[in-house]
Amino acid sequence: MTLAQRCKNVMPPMANRVTDLGIVKGEGCYLYTDDGRKILDFAAGIGVCNLGHNYPDVVEAAKAQMDQLVHGCHNLVYYEPYVKLAEKLVELTGGNTKLYFCNSGAEAVDGALKLAKYVSGRPAVIGFKGAFHGRTMGAATMTASNSAYRKNIETGLMNNVYHLDYPYLLHTPYPYDGVHTPEFYFRQFDELFSKLVSPDRVACILMEPVQGEGGYIVPPKDWMVYVRELCDKYGIFLIYDEVQSGFGRTGKMFAQEHFSIRPDIMTCAKGIANGLPLSAIIAKAEIMDQWPAGAHGGTFGGNPVSCAAANATIKVLESGVVDNAAKMGDYLMEQLKKIKEKYPCIAEVRGLGLMIGVELLDENGTPMTALASKIQKDALDEGLFILTCGSYKNCFRFIAPLIVTENEIDTAVAIVDRVLEKNCQ
Ligand SMILES: Cc1ncc(COP(=O)(O)O)c(C=O)c1O
Repeated sequence: MTLAQRCKNVMPPMANRVTDLGIVKGEGCYLYTDDGRKILDFAAGIGVCNLGHNYPDVVEAAKAQMDQLVHGCHNLVYYEPYVKLAEKLVELTGGNTKLYFCNSGAEAVDGALKLAKYVSGRPAVIGFKGAFHGRTMGAATMTASNSAYRKNIETGLMNNVYHLDYPYLLHTPYPYDGVHTPEFYFRQFDELFSKLVSPDRVACILMEPVQGEGGYIVPPKDWMVYVRELCDKYGIFLIYDEVQSGFGRTGKMFAQEHFSIRPDIMTCAKGIANGLPLSAIIAKAEIMDQWPAGAHGGTFGGNPVSCAAANATIKVLESGVVDNAAKMGDYLMEQLKKIKEKYPCIAEVRGLGLMIGVELLDENGTPMTALASKIQKDALDEGLFILTCGSYKNCFRFIAPLIVTENEIDTAVAIVDRVLEKNCQ
């Protein structure tokens, strides 16, 4: 029996995963299955294995740490890999920050919301439609990419949360000249502040600097600058969720660098330790310093093995892998744009670095959800693992490991081309 056939004793959506791949080994950009297949992995564990699978330096660092100390508990004691990682992340985020380590993206998002509320003393929070921030109660409240994530738990969600429109300009109902962001996306804040909540009651604005699950949407820079200015004007904390966009994914260490904007608080996870569970809340020091004992904490956060893996991961990222992500991202974008010319169903190819999505619409502008999932399935049959995304699930996305080569991109693009040709006649 395959692993997929044996795995029926977990909750049904987990038993029926996106694929029926049973994985016995991962190495670089490849996964190896229990039925002998070698798969080119452009999913990277949903943007986690940024250095590819089982990167030797990271594996070695984790193994060496296991010989020294597996768990200490950061509420109780100090240990070297934790302190070293904190020093490094502060350096990478401007030098005047402090941080708190946790285990998952959602946990970091919940903690960031708590921090903003605690320090500001304000009740309200602003998020964006299309966002994905995770599945714990706080994160699920902020998630607005699919109502399924909120269904039947509505009464447990946070109150005083307002979701505004993220500038998803391919679908904007407002006049758009392709250059200037429609006024609506700026004006909606005034509307909210004048009609629903006073800005001095808003603790934070939480956003992904590139929307991930919502469709790999890159917001316009003028709008990002406007939101930063708005936060400064009203003393609202700006939180960037860099869980998916961080650690080199967009061709820079953090996506915020593309906009030259620093948030007050940020969250990161996924790629931080190349596969070991770890996340962080990073905030300006003057904010983090106001969180007193008892307000936040956790048993497993900043596990020594995960921190050792993160230190090794960051060292390798800085040795040229982030630059490779920028270069290979440009190359993949170029190849996909060539393919777009052949297939009218491709409405847009977009993204930053190696965070690239392809959106499918029919001639009436209707999302082609079934086609996106067929492309994903057929590509997998041909040995390429890609994922779908988008509020309408009509995009497929490329989250290749950042060590990917031109040859591997050529292989992936050739498969996608073949699969589109087969399905788009
Ligand atoms: C932007 C963003 N935030 C938060 C999360 C939640 O992270 P986790 O699944 O580790 O809780 C995700 C996961 O996909 C994400 O993409």
